[in-house]
Amino acid sequence: MRTPIIAGNWKLHMNPEQTAEFVKAVKGKLPDPSKVESVIAAPAVDLYVLAENAKGTNLHTGAENAYFEVEGAFTGETSPKVLNEMGIDYCIIGHSERRGYFHETDEDINKKAKALFANGVTPIICCGESLETREANKQEEWVVGQIKAALDGLTAEQVSKVVIAYEPIWAIGTGKTASADQAEEMCKTIRETVKDLYNEETAENVRIQYGGSVKPANIKELMAKPDIDGGLVGGASLDPESYLALVNYQD
Ligand code: 13P
Repeated sequence: MRTPIIAGNWKLHMNPEQTAEFVKAVKGKLPDPSKVESVIAAPAVDLYVLAENAKGTNLHTGAENAYFEVEGAFTGETSPKVLNEMGIDYCIIGHSERRGYFHETDEDINKKAKALFANGVTPIICCGESLETREANKQEEWVVGQIKAALDGLTAEQVSKVVIAYEPIWAIGTGKTASADQAEEMCKTIRETVKDLYNEETAENVRIQYGGSVKPANIKELMAKPDIDGGLVGGASLDPESYLALVNYQD
């Protein structure tokens, strides 16, 4: 069955020195990766230090974004190929902050997913509706549309490996978590969408995270839901103790 995956998304926090200290603080205390996969996604400037310090530990590493080209005249961008060379395992794409502040489109996100797979980095693809969309009761069609666009042209084998993060925008950094039932409902819809697009086996393999004010206090309830396979955690992943409480939620 699916291995749970808890990923911290540090956003624009932490420097290389703090990154090295964080890994030192958590490394002997992480769960066995066959039980729970622990991931930290860090800013690009911290990734080299993150990858070097995570070597030989149970910590998996992630970037928060990458470009869909591997090299060229693209000032300021991050190459998926270099992420792979550095030993980075995952890359978050399509976070609502990137879609909102940096105008990333569904098409960009689809190109990034393909480029990451082509370069041996597993994408964590984010989706999620705004408060306005939820109040209009259009959240399902919105999220299904985002998923269809993001996965377009990917093979069943690739989609089996992908991680999808459902993050309702109204629950991010607001302290307002979607209820475990609301989160489960959408994660189930996403799995059904994968089944419609591919097949049952692919849908059973794809891991789906919930994100939005996940904390040590609510992780157990969320993880108890059948279609929630993990969490994508912002604020509560910055402190080693809080991060350890999240990844060790089974204890
Ligand atoms: P918070 O956990 O701080 O609400 O952030 C969620 C998020 O956006 C993770 O990607």
